[in-house]
Amino acid sequence: MLRTICLFILVFLSFLSGYGQIVGPRKAVDPYRYEPVKAASFERASVASAHALASQVGAEMMRRGGNAFDAAIATQLALAVVYPVAGNIGGGGFLLGRKADGQLIALDFRETAPRAARRDMYLDQDGKAQTELSQNGHLAAGVPGTIAGLFASMSYAKLPFRDLIQPAIDLAALGFVLSENEARSLNWTLGNFKKYGTKPNAFTARKEWKAGDTLVQKELARTLELVRDKGAKGFYRGKTARLLVAEMKRGGGLIDLQDLKAYEAKSRTAMEFSYRGHQIIGFPPPSSGGVILGQVLKMLEPYPLGQYGFQSPEAVQLMVEAERRAYADRATHLGDPDFWKVPVSELLADAYLKNRMGDFVPGKASESKLIKAGEFRESEQTTHLSIVDAEGNMVAVTTTLNGAYGSKTVVGGAGFLLNNEMDDFSIKPGVANMYGAVGGDANAIAPNKRMLSSMCPALVLKDNKPFMVVGTPGGTTIPTSVLQAVVNVIDFGMNAEQAINSPKFHHQWLPDLVDIEKDFPEETRKKLAAMGYTFRLRDGIGRTEIVLIDRDGKRMVAADKRGEDSVAGY
Ligand code: GLY
Repeated sequence: MLRTICLFILVFLSFLSGYGQIVGPRKAVDPYRYEPVKAASFERASVASAHALASQVGAEMMRRGGNAFDAAIATQLALAVVYPVAGNIGGGGFLLGRKADGQLIALDFRETAPRAARRDMYLDQDGKAQTELSQNGHLAAGVPGTIAGLFASMSYAKLPFRDLIQPAIDLAALGFVLSENEARSLNWTLGNFKKYGTKPNAFTARKEWKAGDTLVQKELARTLELVRDKGAKGFYRGKTARLLVAEMKRGGGLIDLQDLKAYEAKSRTAMEFSYRGHQIIGFPPPSSGGVILGQVLKMLEPYPLGQYGFQSPEAVQLMVEAERRAYADRATHLGDPDFWKVPVSELLADAYLKNRMGDFVPGKASESKLIKAGEFRESEQTTHLSIVDAEGNMVAVTTTLNGAYGSKTVVGGAGFLLNNEMDDFSIKPGVANMYGAVGGDANAIAPNKRMLSSMCPALVLKDNKPFMVVGTPGGTTIPTSVLQAVVNVIDFGMNAEQAINSPKFHHQWLPDLVDIEKDFPEETRKKLAAMGYTFRLRDGIGRTEIVLIDRDGKRMVAADKRGEDSVAGY
């Protein structure tokens, strides 16, 4: 009887406080009852992201009068709470946007190397690379850029920041229910959270998580409140900065108060190029995403890809050979443009790319050891969200901690995970990073430098009107996943769901292998093997989020089947 009365009082109080449905005034998001929605067609506005609650938060902001930039800010903040594997405030990323009036926006909030970082900081006395240090724990962390990026995005938003961050605060303070996959993923990482952190935290609060448990993150909620009340200074200065630096001191990391104070998001010039009558907009260095996407599409353009047929041996071989050449260029030529002269226009020049494919032989595999980067006379967890609003603003944001849960270091007392982005530098020429990518001087470590990324948020226009917003996580597979979504729509006439859910493949020069998903067509694999290609079976490649706008203006949105990604809209 007493139990029943207590329960009744609890339910009544919950009802009065709106507990359980957090985005007021419409109370549209229920963190205790939600299901991913994989695809939909909306009349006005749509969001696709890695988590149902984050997509719902973004859609609700647009219903309440916000635009795609408001939605992107609120969705990213919600992801930092409900998708700790990659959503973050302790990492960085890139926002690519196009306002309805045609203005292009490219915001770079990539992490930077701390000012005490040194080129050889991950080499031991014998010059051997210590990837354990660049991939895990305090020394792996770059100076976080996400909060600076969110405030830089505010110039294009309409709603007050406090409204955009409140759902994330509520999700952290009240908690949200874990799915089976989320519980399993936390359990896998529990040992590492303890090994690479110095204080107990929300993830280590239980010995074992199970589906249906509520993850409450009180410390993260307090950090987000500081950001709500003090702006970017609530993160880069004051209590949060002190907690982060104290965590660094306890664990032997490098980030100091001056690094945090000095961090700035940068505005870059979006890359634009054409492909079969469409205008493609990509992100420039320090991401390699836009350059690789542009190079590969331009190498494909002279060939009748659509006629070859989807994942026919001819189509896959051509794409693999173009990818091989683009990734060889990445390894030599790409890095932070503020530290290294990146020859973007040369890399994308028609004559250069024609020459690059000069030794392509249909029906025969090239060998990566014989393909070097081109020369000029002159000289793996991330997450993505795609949004289109009712006005026609387009936003694509890819953001990352790098590996799953980044460095696995939670800032003691502040409740957020730090990235392990330092591993995206070339820690030693020729030594592969966690995605197997190699690099050299262009991407060597230097104080305050941004590490090269593969993130590839992309926008596509047709007849100068919004047509596609796309992007994905996946480390070095990011540009090739985006590429496949683009050609699947443009060359193979697929709809949004087919374009992202069809089997994928990937080649990145080194290692000289074609990665394939398990449902890649066996007949094509056999024919390519006979041409000399070697294959490696991979678990799902990327988790792509796409919005396609049809002729009637409908927003066809799809979230990747490979995860619990979800769409929302109205
Ligand atoms: N950390 C993955 C990337 O930026 O490419």
